[in-house]
Amino acid sequence: MDEKLGAMITGMGMAVPEKVLTNFDLEKMVDTSDEWIRTRTGMVERRIADENTATSDLCTEAAEKALKDAGMSAKDLDVIIIATVTPDTLFPSTACYVQRNLGATNAAAFDISAACSGFLYGLTVGDSFIRGGMYKNILVIGSETLSKITDWTDRSTCVLFGDGAGAAILQPSDGKSGIMKTHISSDGRLTDLLIIPGGGSRIPPSHESLDQRLHYIKMEGQEVFKYAVKAMGDAAVKVLKEGGVSSKDLTLMIPHQANDRIIQATARRIKLPMEQVYVNIQKYGNTSAASIPIAMTEAIEEGKLKKGDYCLMVSFGGGFTTGAVLLKY
Ligand code: ACO
Repeated sequence: MDEKLGAMITGMGMAVPEKVLTNFDLEKMVDTSDEWIRTRTGMVERRIADENTATSDLCTEAAEKALKDAGMSAKDLDVIIIATVTPDTLFPSTACYVQRNLGATNAAAFDISAACSGFLYGLTVGDSFIRGGMYKNILVIGSETLSKITDWTDRSTCVLFGDGAGAAILQPSDGKSGIMKTHISSDGRLTDLLIIPGGGSRIPPSHESLDQRLHYIKMEGQEVFKYAVKAMGDAAVKVLKEGGVSSKDLTLMIPHQANDRIIQATARRIKLPMEQVYVNIQKYGNTSAASIPIAMTEAIEEGKLKKGDYCLMVSFGGGFTTGAVLLKY
């Protein structure tokens, strides 16, 4: 095994809004059914932020818990990296709001836009900072309020998404735990398959863009599905091989929670029994960049991931982006 360990995760925390939206609630909003949603996606309910809650609010709650878990003060932080496609504002970055909320006066703060792969992109950047000796205390958060960019009249997308945040504290390895391998990749040829067309410099906000509902998520679901199955499988195989870890050595895979069928296909590809795959899609739906850190926080709390265990995280998302991180927790 390649035991050159980089950043170690020393604290985790998560936050989800209180409001629960069930499949039965969705039946009353669009032409769908609990049966369709369950069998096609594995989702049963999801959390929805209220009108006063923005992405940075969920980030702040998750970050405070992660700092406490790591026994650290916000003033110790060198960098805050936030992965999100639902920033509070186009600028400043959501990370700067979170810095203000936490009182992390000594940190640099910036956002990453890599859709559902954002958290693994953030871990990769944080790991590189630590391996390069530039920083020692890094906060990486995946957080989304996707409900705010969901077209609640489009049944092909609105049943899929939920809100939440998960945060991780990275510090240099103690020699026993740490990130072993990371992989990030992108395929910009597929940008149009999953997109919010309006609101940026290509189609600035206007009455026309609002009338055409261009500020909401548009997705070619089947194409995304096909891409995801291949990309997640390839990335998982790659980091396991590079890390010299076989799926028999793995304690847990924590995949991006986009669709239970995609998760099962990825597990089959690396011949990992589903008992060793963490799935909480039934509770939260697809929370994009937040899904892996939320799942990891819960896996640790439930005793499914313990110190020294080998853990594989793998994701895909709009862009298209793919990420995989092999961790000795
Ligand atoms: N309820 C009932 N019927 C529906 C619904 C719904 N909510 N949505 C679509 N249908 C219908 C379609 O209209 C279609 O009907 P038709 O056969 O009469 O035309 C039928 O169900 C089948 O639709 P498909 O799109 O073929 O269904 P599929 O099995 O592909 O499942 C799904 C759709 C769940 C979206 C799947 O393609 C998927 O999960 N794709 C990946 C999406 C994803 O993971 N995105 C993550 C990225 S998110 C991000 O990066 C922010």
